[in-house]
Order: sequence, then C-alpha cells, then structure tokens
Amino acid sequence: MRFEKRHLALCGLGVWSQDHTPSFDKTFLKFFEGLVRPSVKNIKEYVPGKSIEEIAQKYGLDPAKIIKLGSNENPLGPSPLAVSAIKEKAGKIHLYPSSDALELRKAISAYTGYPVDNIVVSGNGMDGILDTMMRLFMTPEAETIIPVPTFSYYEIATLANGGKPVFAERAPDFAIEPNRILDKVNDSTKMIFLCSPNNPSGNTVSEKDVRKILESVNSIVFVDEAYADFSGHDLMGLVRKYDNLIIGRTFSKAFGLAGMRMGYAVVPQWIAREYMKVMTPFSVDVLSLAGGIAALNDKEHLKKSLETVKKGRIQLSNGLVPLCKVYPSEANFILIDVSPHTAAEVSESLLKKGIIVRDCTSFRGAGESLIRITVGTGDQNEKVIEAMSAIL
Ligand SMILES: Cc1ncc(COP(=O)(O)O)c(C=O)c1O
Repeated sequence: MRFEKRHLALCGLGVWSQDHTPSFDKTFLKFFEGLVRPSVKNIKEYVPGKSIEEIAQKYGLDPAKIIKLGSNENPLGPSPLAVSAIKEKAGKIHLYPSSDALELRKAISAYTGYPVDNIVVSGNGMDGILDTMMRLFMTPEAETIIPVPTFSYYEIATLANGGKPVFAERAPDFAIEPNRILDKVNDSTKMIFLCSPNNPSGNTVSEKDVRKILESVNSIVFVDEAYADFSGHDLMGLVRKYDNLIIGRTFSKAFGLAGMRMGYAVVPQWIAREYMKVMTPFSVDVLSLAGGIAALNDKEHLKKSLETVKKGRIQLSNGLVPLCKVYPSEANFILIDVSPHTAAEVSESLLKKGIIVRDCTSFRGAGESLIRITVGTGDQNEKVIEAMSAIL
C-alpha cells in the first residue's frame, strides 16, 4: 500500500479511503512534491552541450561527419597510456577501489608539487568537488557570490544544497570587478566563486584581484581552474598562503578524460580533513584511478594537447576576427559575439552544417548573441571558419 493514514492527516484530508481516484492520487503527489527542499524549486536544469547522436538524428546527418565543439573536450582524444591502463584494470572491477584514492592523490601531488594532504578528489568531475564543498559549507541561510556570466553549476550546487546564490555583474570585457563582489559580501557569505579562465569568456582573474578578495573576506574563495592548463598562469601557489582558498581542477579538459568524470582540488589541509568526512566513500572508481594516474604520467599527450589548443586558438581567432567580435581567450575555447544576429540562429545554421558549438543564451547574464566554440584540430577549425564565412 503506497499511502497510509498518517499521510492523510498531514494533508488534512480526514478519513482514509481505499478508493484511489485520479484526483486523490494527484493530492498525494502534491504532498510528496512538497517534501522537496524549497530552494530546489528555483533550480533551472543544467543545459549541457549538444551530443553528436542528438544532432545526427535531428538533422539527418552522418554522425561520423559531425564536428563536436560545444563541450570543450580534448580534440586529440584520451591519452593512449590511460586507455591501456584502463583496459588492463577492466578485470578488477569486482573489487572496491581504495576509499581515499591515495595512489591517484600521490600522482596529483607529483603533478602539482603539493603534498597529498592538500589534495582531494572526486569521481564525478569537478562538479563532484563543487557539490561536496557545498555539502561541507552550506547552511540554510548561507550565500554564495557568483560573478556572471560564468559556469552555471555554481548556482545549481548552491541551490541544491540549500544556499542562496547572489550574482555580481562583470565588466563589459568580462573581467571580475572586485569591489562589486565585495559590496555583496555579508555575514551570510560562505563562498565566492571565481572561474579562471572563465567559462564562457576565456579571460583569467589576476593574482592581485584574488588576493584582494581573499584578504577582505571571512568566506571561502573557490577558484575554478578547469581550463588553467591551457593558460599562461594559474593561482594554485596561493593555497600555501591563504587558509580560505580552494583551487578546483579537472581531468576532463587538457587530460582528455571527460567521460571518466574525475576532478581534484588543491586545498589547505584543514579543508581536506573536513572534505574526507563528507565525500562519498570510494568516490573514484577502479578504472578512473588507473586512467587518471596514467594520464598524469603521459607527458607527451599533455604536451601535444596544449600545443594543439594554443595553435588552434590563434587559427580560429584570426579566421573569425574579420567576421565578428572575438574575445581573447586563455582556455581551449573562444567566445564570439555574433550581433546583430542572435546566437540561437547562428548556432542552428552551424548545426545544420554538422558543427556543434555552444549557444550561450542559457548562461545567466550572457545576453543573446554570444557563442562559445571549442578549439578543435586544424581541419575542424578551418571548417568552422568556412561555415561562419557563409553564415555571417
Ligand atoms: C568552468 C568549469 N568548471 C567545472 C566544469 C566541470 O568539469 P568536470 O567535467 O570535471 O565536472 C566545467 C565543465 O565544462 C567547467 O567549464
């Protein structure tokens, strides 16, 4: 029996009836829906980049000919060493992995130069790191500050964990405005999100601005460096100096392991100790552990990936500059403004030609004319430029 008398009492419906009419069921559904945390009601679902299968089906295209440049993945694919390591481990997936992912954290320690006690990991990408940090810090009245436009999961993770996101506008060139952020800080501010390079604009946050914010607040500052491997500088060194700084990183971009869903963060040791208490046990699976360690050791693939992006970024930017406004980028994507056209119409025209890019209309505060294009291989970039020349 699905419903009990106590539910009726809670709904104020009086006497129990065996007669489950549709309107009776609807009342109970409403009651159950009322159990959902109120802040979740305000969440707009995350909008992912479009998939090859979806576009092939919608436009009747050959999936093999579709160019996917909407999700900032690695155009060279995964590290071959990671693929071999994963195959080798496939026969061991009946066993639990180590619960603290120590071997992976040791490999990250060698890559970052930080001791393992400063490193935490997640088996659900950097999204998992963000979510665990929210679980750790959010309380019902807590606020986060989010300079927009930026990666939308900060807002979702805040709301999903019962907090309240507060938005700060960026300058016209998408630089953060430290004073605008600091104006929003109050006693309820638990976390400030800074994305560097920022998704979708590609610009970085200066060390001076981050220090100013870190030194002015009693909150945690989460610097999301998902794309920092592609940039000329990063802010990881500041973790040694500030007890309220988290640097989030991922294996999804430069390391080409987006499908494995692995993220890590470099944090002060006190945060690592608390994180270990609330993270899901065995978070990183057996195959991801093997793949992640091998990818970190595959210096050749990492070097090639970074070179491909740096070269392709220039090729794509130079090719598009005569056609539309191109923002400078330190990431593996570039942002363009296609006004007076809308991003929706230009993205749709590209989709029909088998090129997937990211229409940024769903990013809060991005307006209606911004498109983000992942840097691809030389050939892919050339096809984008050709297609855009025909559209714009
Ligand atoms: C800025 C930023 N942070 C975090 C993520 C999440 O990365 P992951 O695949 O590690 O969950 C993304 C994904 O695109 C991103 O753009």
